[in-house]
Amino acid sequence: MKGLLLLALVLMLSACTADYAVQPEPAKLDGKQLAFSRNKGNCLACHVIADGESPGNIGPPLQSLASRFDNKQQLRQQIWDARQFNPETSMPPFGTNHILSPTEIDAVVDYLWGL
Ligand code: HEC
Repeated sequence: MKGLLLLALVLMLSACTADYAVQPEPAKLDGKQLAFSRNKGNCLACHVIADGESPGNIGPPLQSLASRFDNKQQLRQQIWDARQFNPETSMPPFGTNHILSPTEIDAVVDYLWGL
């Protein structure tokens, strides 16, 4: 009987530690939200994007980018630092200037690539 109790206790304890070992899933970044957010990407200030309200038109509409760029990496470079393609660009260097983090830029690239 004592043995059973002990076993139950051990099982309960290991269940508790197992709970602690489970890391919460990191929340998946929402590329669309990052692109639209006025205090993150704020891409709508200059670009028309599907579903976006009150866009500006300083830059070209962001659509069919998979046909405009050779690959995702090139699109990422455009967002990381548009000066690589146009030294006179008015587009902020989101990566170089730490406006968006590398993982935030990845999320924006994934979102735009699918448009
Ligand atoms: C201040 C204005 C401005 C903001 C803000 C801006 N861009 Fe741009 N973007 C431009 C301009 C202007 C161009 C045209 C090319 C150039 O001049 O470099 C451009 C070009 C682009 C292109 C290339 C489009 C093509 O078809 O060649 C992509 C992709 C792009 N921007 C993505 C973004 C994303 C994503 C954001 C937000 C994270 C953003 N831009 C924010 C001004 C801006």
